[in-house]
Amino acid sequence: MSSETRTTESAGTAGGPPDAWREAIATRRTQLREGQIVPAAQAQPLSAELSRRRFIRASFWTGLGATLLGSVGLFLDFFYPRNVRGFGAPVPAGNVKDYARGADPKHFLEGQFWIVNLDPAEKRPGGSGAAAGLLALWHKCPHLGCTVPWRNNFTFEGDTGWFRCPCHGSTYTKAGVRVFGPAPRSMDTMKIDVDASGNITVQTGARVPGGPDNPQRAIQAPGLAT
Ligand code: FES
Repeated sequence: MSSETRTTESAGTAGGPPDAWREAIATRRTQLREGQIVPAAQAQPLSAELSRRRFIRASFWTGLGATLLGSVGLFLDFFYPRNVRGFGAPVPAGNVKDYARGADPKHFLEGQFWIVNLDPAEKRPGGSGAAAGLLALWHKCPHLGCTVPWRNNFTFEGDTGWFRCPCHGSTYTKAGVRVFGPAPRSMDTMKIDVDASGNITVQTGARVPGGPDNPQRAIQAPGLAT
């Protein structure tokens, strides 16, 4: 006799909750009926298992790559320079008509430069070096970086009017050529653009190390007093 049969027989021999439990247990089949066959579990084909792993691995790497790409994109977007103004960007510097030939250099603090219209007739030691045209000079001293002022009342070697660094005394002509002091070179120059209306733009990001040829870097422009 099977355990199913025994359980069924004992059910109802006592009243109350224990009988209810027995009945519940009796309805559960714990053994197979005679001749009953349990179908064998279907084995997963090996190729299907492999392709599933491949799919999971590909999903993982795709997700990781997308996350990294997104992070790099955000980083570049955050640091990409937009609406750059002032030093390092193009800085307007008035019109050619604003610059009298041989006048004192004009300072543009925003762009950190001086602009001068050199007079070829100014042959004094601190003058133009016989050059003509517009020249933009970075106001940063090539020695240790102090701001170099134009000193129109400073006298050096019998001549008055020089760029003179207040830190260690490096001295430069009106064209920024070094004549004295610890600076390793002349004042650096910046690229100047002039449009058809004579408006001047100084490309403060386009700087060239200064040298004795500074005067020859001056540019001519229509409407400029020369
Ligand atoms: S920083 Fe100008 S001379 Fe030293």
